[in-house]
Amino acid sequence: MRYTVLLLALLVMFGGCNDDSSAESNSQNQSTTTDAQLYMLGKNAAGFTFYKNSTDTLVKNGGSGHPDSHLRTRYNAIAAQHLDANGKVKAGTVFADSSLIVKELINNGVLTTYVFLFKKKGDANADANGWVWAETSPTGTPTYPVTNKGAGCIGCHSAGIDYTRMNDTHP
Ligand code: HEC
Repeated sequence: MRYTVLLLALLVMFGGCNDDSSAESNSQNQSTTTDAQLYMLGKNAAGFTFYKNSTDTLVKNGGSGHPDSHLRTRYNAIAAQHLDANGKVKAGTVFADSSLIVKELINNGVLTTYVFLFKKKGDANADANGWVWAETSPTGTPTYPVTNKGAGCIGCHSAGIDYTRMNDTHP
């Protein structure tokens, strides 16, 4: 009798554990990031750290696929943990989940586009490396939707640190 009770207790414990872990992995893996969410998370620069700790606009790199003459790039608090004291991405970085990188495209001093890279492994709109790719207008209209999953972006970005290109093009 004592063993039966023990066995039952163990079954309940392990059953409970399994339920918990699957619920947890579901909530992590079944997110679906939208263009609107990225816009809301990324449009406001408050709490972001700028590349090289500078809000100056940079002349775009010749190899950049992005239009517009100037840009600046900023990192949310989670992504910024992967920057060194000079505000450059640390060598060998693999950005943590919920890292958000926003590039602002600027022409003649006017913001024309937000470009987003958002790390969310297992997200319905993430690529195989866990990056969600998007672009919107300054008012949030999608110009490159998350559902494209980085098609046309990834090839060019694969040369960088965890698919980011600021370090090699703006050293
Ligand atoms: C032809 C190459 C090329 C293509 C295609 C391209 N990019 Fe980029 N991207 C760059 C380069 C180079 C930079 C570095 C900044 C600069 O000079 O524009 C960059 C920078 C960025 C950044 C700033 C973070 C960083 O360090 O990489 C984001 C975000 C970004 N691109 C997103 C995208 C998205 C989204 C697409 C597809 C819609 C895309 N890129 C397509 C070359 C490319």
